[in-house]
Amino acid sequence: MAQMETVGPARAAQRVEQARQREARKLARRSFLRVTAFAGLSLFVGAMLSSFLGFFNLRKPKGFGGVVNVPANQIPAAGTEPVRISAGKFFLVNLQGAEGDVLGVGGTGGLLALYWKCPHLGCSVPWNASFNGASVNFPGVIGWFRCPCHGSTYSKAGIRVFGPAPRPLDTMEIIKNPDGSLGVNTGKITFGDVDNPTRAITI
Ligand code: FES
Repeated sequence: MAQMETVGPARAAQRVEQARQREARKLARRSFLRVTAFAGLSLFVGAMLSSFLGFFNLRKPKGFGGVVNVPANQIPAAGTEPVRISAGKFFLVNLQGAEGDVLGVGGTGGLLALYWKCPHLGCSVPWNASFNGASVNFPGVIGWFRCPCHGSTYSKAGIRVFGPAPRPLDTMEIIKNPDGSLGVNTGKITFGDVDNPTRAITI
């Protein structure tokens, strides 16, 4: 009888301990599930955000909208033909002295990045190396940017001399890199104006 009395409380205590351990295990399991669910949700949201930014090219735009790198060997020499950089939708022009300064604003030469979008209705303006300026009152000047849509005609510095465009070609910011290449910031566009030739930079 006396033995029954001592075993009873010991078993009760053991049951209490077992119940406590069961509860602790349940709690740990719930916490684990909560943490796992939260981590999964965070990963899902992160992946969605990453896809969104990637799709709209918002993180660090490459190509048009961001900085387009032009290797040193693609930079035209002064006085040579403009180089078309498709990735950035611009022409890199290296003016020799007052070349392209058809309105005489004081251009002294250098590099210009001309956005190829026509300020009239947005057509892409190509460089026409053989076009004779005689037909737009600049005889002897060969080589112009000439819009195929309505004929707006721009000098090598992007100055409009003919056609319905409301202004010269727009220019983009040029950044000189230490390795001799250039960065053209196609997200930083300045409306073209008659001072285009004075915006040219030297390298
Ligand atoms: S779009 Fe270029 S002249 Fe009209």
